Amino acid sequence: MAPNIKTIGVLTSGGDAPGMNAAIRGVVRRAISRGLKVKGIYQGYKGLLNEEIKDMDARSVSEILAKGGTILYTARCREFRMEEGQKAAAEICRKHGIDGLVVIGGDGSFAGARMLALHGVPTVGVPGTIDLDIACSEYTIGFDTAVNTAMEAIDKVRDTSTSHERCSIIEVMGRGAGYIALWCGIANGAEDILVPENYDYNEQELIDHIISNRKRGKKHHIIVNAEGIGHSSSMARRIEAATGVETRATILGHMQRGGSPTCRDRVYGSMMGAYAADLLADGKSNRVVAYRHGDYVDYDIQEALEMQKELPDYMVRISKALAI
Ligand code: ADP
Ligand code: F6P
Repeated sequence: MAPNIKTIGVLTSGGDAPGMNAAIRGVVRRAISRGLKVKGIYQGYKGLLNEEIKDMDARSVSEILAKGGTILYTARCREFRMEEGQKAAAEICRKHGIDGLVVIGGDGSFAGARMLALHGVPTVGVPGTIDLDIACSEYTIGFDTAVNTAMEAIDKVRDTSTSHERCSIIEVMGRGAGYIALWCGIANGAEDILVPENYDYNEQELIDHIISNRKRGKKHHIIVNAEGIGHSSSMARRIEAATGVETRATILGHMQRGGSPTCRDRVYGSMMGAYAADLLADGKSNRVVAYRHGDYVDYDIQEALEMQKELPDYMVRISKALAI
């Protein structure tokens, strides 16, 4: 263990994700098993600036593996984006004897963690977001639960869509990333998938597709639309007018972020949380935990933030081939 690390803090930041609690538990219990003390910081960077900090022990994280959301709460904090806020946060860490900090969240939260590291507080990021959009990692905590929740909801919409022989536009989360849309599109057998990576989708092509599918005997037409494209209700009105096929829009919204985490999210959460505690205990700083090629690994935060990830082209092509 690095001699200067005795106490670590843990917080969750940005959008919550199922499995964050498993990650908190992983951090707390692994840190304790390495001889460290742990402090929980409530409401992300906002709570850090407000000194919402409490001691945690092994029992603080009992009975939380199956809970959705985050027991530490989460927030977005404008003040922390400014240098003054970051300096103040680093001072607060020192005042509370926090020698290192685990930040569970997405890219934005990692950018904040990097700034704290630059102000002298060792930090480690853990990828917690339903969007699967952390470039350095093949997995992000919360994705599996979110896509399964969305998949079950779309199955239900599909039943009624078929009974009424309608077109259904179902909007799933993902402002900047189409992973949830792509996975649900394949899992639910959608006729069309709209993703923000391809913002210039062609509405006339959608309309032609619906009309040609009708002629070929398809009883419904499911369009999975990512939040980043959005406008599902107005799209539905235009499509109905152009095709003559009754069209309804369903926006799944925040239900996708809730619920008891799947096994996968509990396991990745536990492992990544524990790995983060290990990194701090070993004296590492300014790192992001990732899962790549079957292993838990870590990257420099700046390097991780500069990495790019694209929707897998083969999956996109196959999703179209399977929708014939
Ligand atoms: P996510 O972590 O899910 O990407 P956000 O982008 O909303 O979520 O970021 C969460 C919080 O992290 C923000 O409210 C802000 O306090 C902090 N943050 C985001 N970007 C930066 C940045 N570039 N510098 C410092 N802090 C940031
Ligand atoms: O990043 C997770 C996410 O759920 C995105 O898919 C979505 O665009 C965003 O958060 C919504 O955030 P909010 O909680 O502010 O509505």
